[in-house]
Amino acid sequence: MDATQTVPVVTIDGPSGSGKGTVSREVARRVGWHLLDSGALYRLVALSGRLHGLAPDDTAGHAALARAMDVEFGTDAGGAERIRLGGADVTADVRSEATGQGASRVAAWAPVREALVERQRAFARPPGLVADGRDMGTVIFPAARLKIYLTATAEERALRRHKQLKEKGSGANLAALSREIAERDQRDSTRAVAPLKPAHDARIVDSTGMSIAQVVEAVLAAGRAQGLWS
Ligand code: DC
Repeated sequence: MDATQTVPVVTIDGPSGSGKGTVSREVARRVGWHLLDSGALYRLVALSGRLHGLAPDDTAGHAALARAMDVEFGTDAGGAERIRLGGADVTADVRSEATGQGASRVAAWAPVREALVERQRAFARPPGLVADGRDMGTVIFPAARLKIYLTATAEERALRRHKQLKEKGSGANLAALSREIAERDQRDSTRAVAPLKPAHDARIVDSTGMSIAQVVEAVLAAGRAQGLWS
């Protein structure tokens, strides 16, 4: 039996800007479980490709990097996220809009997705895992104990992203962000491999008009009802 069957997993899937990153991190922190931010892995593949000077359409090259890249997720002394690639701090590059767009492109390639399967499953370690992504409940952890599909209207997601970027001090244009989110949704949900869609047994949570705290409470309550934590 592999770890995905013995270690409890909660999957939180959904489109960009649905709040799943923040919600997943907070749920994992509250229950003391591990966190898998699978989107960061696709971002790291796109970034590695750029750093290695790969052609943007070099599928095999990106898949090889997906297998070989040396990645470390951690936090700094103040608790802020720190992502290292080959020992170098690449957090800001990983989180940029440009890398997000690159990630969405490489994520459409089957060899890249395949190369990341085992790496993602290896995050399932005791006492449990909260897995955040697009295909956590459908492909990577189909036997997850609880599957959440978190969504919100495209307008609300663009507004949230805009606020987030402004808080980080980067100038962002709301109309351009809305366009990018719509494009990314379209690409993520229509690709042939592992498209963004709710698992048949997922609970759909529409977070439009809900605060992050309310969504976190809803997920914690669902997990409690399943006996995953007290
Ligand atoms: O959640 P994010 O913005 O960090 O994800 C970046 C891109 O990676 C997103 O456009 C789709 C892709 N992705 C994916 O295809 N499958 C996942 N499990 C996670 C992300």
